[in-house]
This record gives sequence, structure tokens and C-alpha cells, in this order.
Amino acid sequence: MAVARIEVSAFSYAVNQNLSGMLKTNERLGQTIKSGLNHIKRVYLSSDLMRINYNDAYAIGLDEFDDRRRTITASYNDFNAELRLVTERVGSMSRLTQKAAQLVRQIGELFEFEEGLMAEIEFPECAAHHLKHSHFLETLHDEFERIQSGHSDMYDLSYLVGGWLIEHMRSKDKAFGAFIVKAARDMAEAAD
Ligand SMILES: [Fe+2]
Repeated sequence: MAVARIEVSAFSYAVNQNLSGMLKTNERLGQTIKSGLNHIKRVYLSSDLMRINYNDAYAIGLDEFDDRRRTITASYNDFNAELRLVTERVGSMSRLTQKAAQLVRQIGELFEFEEGLMAEIEFPECAAHHLKHSHFLETLHDEFERIQSGHSDMYDLSYLVGGWLIEHMRSKDKAFGAFIVKAARDMAEAAD
């Protein structure tokens, strides 16, 4: 994985892509926007806004499942912590790259584990859920290519992974978890 161009935050990237013309024609407005964005960035860097706290909103109630998901959220939080250190010029870019690679590997392993389980218990939404995973892995692959070409950065990757994990773990995976828990309960009752 190539070293990312970390100096360009998602905020400044948005300005560069969408507002550059306006900034050229209206210097005062441009300065106001830049000042506002710098303030947001300072708040962003000094806090832990991207942190995911694995709690009941995410938990499914199956130990191995929850353990893997807890590990992934911990890796994501760890990646973000290193990202802030790199931005403050006290972190390590190679360590950040390793943490990104580890996070993506763990996500891929979770998907494999989930999909195996879904096939085993004949989860009705197996194909649709599998497709969600595949699309996300493709999006991740594309994002790494954009990072390598300098059109995206590790902040964009953080937004992408964090947003997707929160949405997916709290909705699609929860539905799957509820199905497994019910199937296990039904089997236990049938055995009584
Ligand atoms: Fe999933």
C-alpha cells in the first residue's frame, strides 16, 4: 500500500474540489470559510468524534460474533488514534498504513465468518447480505486506489469505514443476529 497524502483532510479536499472557484472570486468569503474549516478541524483533531463504542446498540448476543466485531471496532479506534497522531506530526505513517491494512483484513475475515454461518443456517437474506459485503469490499479497494493516486486520504478512509460499520452492524447484522438467536432457541426447545 502506498503512503497516503495525509496533509489533505476531507474538509480541505471538499473545499478544493467544490469551492475553489468561489474562493478565487471572493477572497473575503474564502477566508471566512477557511477559518471556519480550520476551527472544525481543530475540534475534530482534539476530540474523538470518530470513535465507535461497542455497546448494546451493536451487540448481537453471540460470543464469537460479538468478539470479532468488538475487535474490529477496537482496531478502527486504534487506526483513528494513529491518524490524529500523524496529523499532529507525532505519529507514524507506516504504522498507520499497517493499522489500515489490519482493519481491512479483519473486516474481510468477519465477512467470511458471517457468510459461512449464513449459508450453514440457511439465512433467507444470505445472498442480499453477501452482496452488501462484496460492494463494500469493492468500495474499499477503490478508495485505496484513490489514496494511492492522491485523490483521497486516510481521513476519507476513516469516514468510509466508520460510517459503513456503524450502519451495517446496527441494522443488517442485527437482523442476522436475531435470526440466529431465534433459530438456536427453537432448536433448544425442540430438543427438550
Ligand atoms: Fe454483515
